[in-house]
Amino acid sequence: MAKVTIKDNGGNVVAQFDSNSEENVAAQGQAAGVPIPVACGVGACRMCVGKCEKGAEHIDREAHGEVHIGLEDDEVLTCIAGVKSDAPANAEIEIELENL
Ligand code: FES
Repeated sequence: MAKVTIKDNGGNVVAQFDSNSEENVAAQGQAAGVPIPVACGVGACRMCVGKCEKGAEHIDREAHGEVHIGLEDDEVLTCIAGVKSDAPANAEIEIELENL
């Protein structure tokens, strides 16, 4: 599966992991040791939001729920976003979190 890089809001890399398509990005990041902040968990706030700087084509923004708020085109809610199951193994995804 795709490699996901998580950055804090200063642009520092805080985690890299091989993703799966079964879990949302926030849960995978937390499992990798990143304290990704999650509040509602259902796509209705901005606590978990990140800017997808690379590989957005491999992200399904509503893989694990519906987006209930307005987002910029490059933003993802990591509590409901997932990596597409057809993402190639060498795909690279970079997400910079707003609240980390
Ligand atoms: S935690 Fe509220 S939208 Fe993700």
